[in-house]
Amino acid sequence: MDQWTRVRRCAPAAVAALLALTSCTTSANGEANGRATAASGTPGAPGVHDPYFPELGNGGYDVTHYALTLDYDPKAHRLEATAEITARATQDLSAFNLDLHGMNVTSATVDGQKAVVSRAGDELTLTPRSGAGPTDGETFRTVVGYSGRPATITDADESEEGWLRTADGALALGEPLGSMAWFPGNHHPSDKASYDITVTVPKGLRAISNGELRSERTRGDRTAFAWHSGEPMAGYLATVAIGKFETRATRTPSGLPVFTAVDPAVAKGSAESIAGIPDIVEWGIKTFGPYPFSSAGAIVERDGDAGYALETQTKPVFPGPPSDGLLVHELAHQWFGNSVTPKSWRDMWLNEGFATYAQWLWDEDFANIPADRNFAEAFDNKANWAFPPAEPPSGADLFGDPVYGRGAMVLHKVREAVGDDAFFGIVRGWASTHRHSNASTDDFTAYVEKKSGKDLKALWDTWLYGKKKPATSR
Ligand code: TRP
Ligand code: ZN
Repeated sequence: MDQWTRVRRCAPAAVAALLALTSCTTSANGEANGRATAASGTPGAPGVHDPYFPELGNGGYDVTHYALTLDYDPKAHRLEATAEITARATQDLSAFNLDLHGMNVTSATVDGQKAVVSRAGDELTLTPRSGAGPTDGETFRTVVGYSGRPATITDADESEEGWLRTADGALALGEPLGSMAWFPGNHHPSDKASYDITVTVPKGLRAISNGELRSERTRGDRTAFAWHSGEPMAGYLATVAIGKFETRATRTPSGLPVFTAVDPAVAKGSAESIAGIPDIVEWGIKTFGPYPFSSAGAIVERDGDAGYALETQTKPVFPGPPSDGLLVHELAHQWFGNSVTPKSWRDMWLNEGFATYAQWLWDEDFANIPADRNFAEAFDNKANWAFPPAEPPSGADLFGDPVYGRGAMVLHKVREAVGDDAFFGIVRGWASTHRHSNASTDDFTAYVEKKSGKDLKALWDTWLYGKKKPATSR
């Protein structure tokens, strides 16, 4: 297949390219296919200047698709894998980086040709042979072979992500940067892509991932599970769960496929709440607008396997039987966070404020608790005033109370300011305007002001950016 990429790049040399793949890259710089090609270009940037993780992500290209082929042996805790990354260059590239933490890189090609591999910290640099780097606008394919024992990463707030070993297998969690522990990629949330994730595990175990199951094949004593995610996904939302699972495929009342995978140890305890997923999704559709992905579901691990829930795309992970509130929270993230994704990690409150406010809306609709009461409780909670939600002081604060509680308070203040009709129009409009894309806090405040026709500067100053708790909640 790599020949065809070559042929496209060097059309007049098609025959030569088929006979000898190197022929066109060794030809003179500049005129290989009648259009000027860069002699060498420049290296892509090693990061995209995220305020909290400046080295996360990489410049010079946009990934459009990841095809990950993973083979995992839980007993040996060994992963053997290939990542095939399709990307479009946004500059002439003499070299480019991928984010990868640990693992041994055993091979790397760019458009079928061996690239020079170098590593420094979590940066993997691939240098195509001289003159063979991707040119601006060109789609190119990178294949990286790697193996080893994937790492569990402990974050500044002490939470664990990356590759976690579980009682009977493993679980991959990636917020904010743990995905680099199990595949090389552009791991900043601003570069979303579609995914095919195929995982081979010992027969008897199952491998669950995002999207829809395309095939399940047993050969000898190994079973391969192929999962497909057609809609854009940020790397931090990719997951793999390996172990014994009770799986169930059903549909919501409106026909959306729902796939759940539950650790048998917690199957009884979670049966009732898990059965509520289709109705929660339908409620989400009524409240937030069309569901953004081709399927929904959940992965439920046994207590102790994971330290927290995560809104992994289409199938959020739960660290044990979930409460309705937690289900609502993680399912609401499918619209807010997964479809409308933060431009940088500073915009985290757009994820957690919306997901928390979704719980308040659910309480209003089903628990007879007006959002006013949840707001008043959040207002009185000192922890929510530690810092302004739009400006977490450090990466350790991304999951801090203000991001959740005060983030939700911001939305409640918007609702008070514009009224219910305009507010729910704004919520649905926000989800549809930035569907499958990225958005920032500035995008949000500008959108609300435009839609409502109101100048809300005082509201933002107090609730979003204010360092101090206001004297009254009005
Ligand atoms: N983003 C997750 C949620 O709100 C929670 C989460 C992920 C988390 N990583 C964390 C919470 C680390 C505390 C610490 O659904
Ligand atoms: Zn959340």
